[in-house]
Amino acid sequence: MNNKTLIAVWGSPSSGKTVTAVKLAQAFANRKQNVLLLCSDALCPSAATIAPKGSANHASLGELLSLPALSQDDILHYALPLDVSPHIALLGYKKGDSSFSYATYSRERVVDLLTLARHLADVVIVDCSSYLSADLLSVIALELADHQVRIHSCDLKSLMFFASYMPLLTDHRFRRSSVVSVLSKVKPEQDSNEYTQIFGGIDITLPYLLQIEQQVAAAQLLEDCSGKEAVAYLQGIHSLIDHLLPAKSAAPPPKRTDSSGHPLSYFKKVLNRFSRMKRGDRS
Ligand SMILES: Nc1ncnc2c1ncn2[C@@H]1O[C@H](COP(=O)(O)OP(=O)(O)O)[C@@H](O)[C@H]1O
Ligand SMILES: [Mg+2]
Repeated sequence: MNNKTLIAVWGSPSSGKTVTAVKLAQAFANRKQNVLLLCSDALCPSAATIAPKGSANHASLGELLSLPALSQDDILHYALPLDVSPHIALLGYKKGDSSFSYATYSRERVVDLLTLARHLADVVIVDCSSYLSADLLSVIALELADHQVRIHSCDLKSLMFFASYMPLLTDHRFRRSSVVSVLSKVKPEQDSNEYTQIFGGIDITLPYLLQIEQQVAAAQLLEDCSGKEAVAYLQGIHSLIDHLLPAKSAAPPPKRTDSSGHPLSYFKKVLNRFSRMKRGDRS
């Protein structure tokens, strides 16, 4: 993909922002797009819940944002490559972090981070915090994003959240992005039409899927969803990708392989090199 896309996933508390950001990252990775997933929520650090194996020694996004200056190498150095996909790297807060763990960072630092990230990956996904007043990275991601994916849950709490926060997003700073509204984890007994009418427009509905609840509970969110019951959910993610990609890029590109027949991933190779350096192994 030529255009390096920045996607900000934001919405009401516990609506499924992190789940949707991860499933979206997987769907892009399945299309051989290199994805940098930035989890900006310092309130509930999600790196440990998304990739518990690697994240034990994982450097924190907070540390990266606290560096005196940022380069592409720093981002690669701090990003966690994921065993489950050569196309996804993760940057997030780690277990035990709080918003008081690191020095306050500036707006310029976030702009640097997002600009550099866009040069590194085909798709940068920022899993934003609901609490914009407490998270500058989320605010600036929403300002700079090509696409905002706004996640709603099908309840009164979500309507109240959007009633409070939407007025803040009418500022012209936030108007450069296209907006896709997603109603998430909708159970059969919930009235999605009523929510859609009251809110005034939802583009995509993602059904509740027990498998996802189980994946989250077992810290296996990076596993694929499969089976008959996952079809409607996966169709929802597919429609979301269609909203986010130009029509010609929506289909998976032809496979590129190296001489050994393995899929090429420059992204993975570079990330591996930097994780070796992080451990002090410069061979
Ligand atoms: N489509 C879904 N089906 C079933 N459960 C879901 C779905 N999406 C999210 N969840 C559940 O909702 C909870 C909150 O999701 P999460 O992505 O962590 O929310 P947020 O990041 O908005 O706080 C998780 O425990 C997860 O199991
Ligand atoms: Mg979250």
